[in-house]
Amino acid sequence: MLSEEERRDIELEAPHYATREALCIDALRIVQGHRGYVSDQALQEIADYLGLPLSQVEGAATFYNLIFRHPVGAQVIFVCDSVSCWIMGCERLLERLRAHLATDVGGTSPDGRYTLLTVPCLGACALAPVLMIGETLHGHVTADSLPDLLGKGA
Ligand code: FES
Repeated sequence: MLSEEERRDIELEAPHYATREALCIDALRIVQGHRGYVSDQALQEIADYLGLPLSQVEGAATFYNLIFRHPVGAQVIFVCDSVSCWIMGCERLLERLRAHLATDVGGTSPDGRYTLLTVPCLGACALAPVLMIGETLHGHVTADSLPDLLGKGA
């Protein structure tokens, strides 16, 4: 069952939406904010609370790549690997990040501080290569600037 705080936060958003279905992504985001990720159990709890089929809530969670279905590190690094960022060297950034964090894409550093993910275009192609640390976008990133960025994102 969703906690009182989770239900309260969802209901604060409800007036912005015409249907419970439309509220689904916000509910996922809110529960993730409280729990760090959205487990299978949490999906069921959200479906029950909103009165939606589990498959519908699961579909939304799968489609929306900022919803985490497994535990993640304290910060998530999203590296754009779409065409502009690929041309501008995102592979070099990923290589450096894999080595620096001692994890592969989809994994979490051994100290639990960072999870490394790739994402499609972040809509800032003019700044390629681009990555996000948490909710902060960084553009024109170079392999040499990564340690500094990670220091700020920590
Ligand atoms: S291709 Fe990377 S931000 Fe658009």
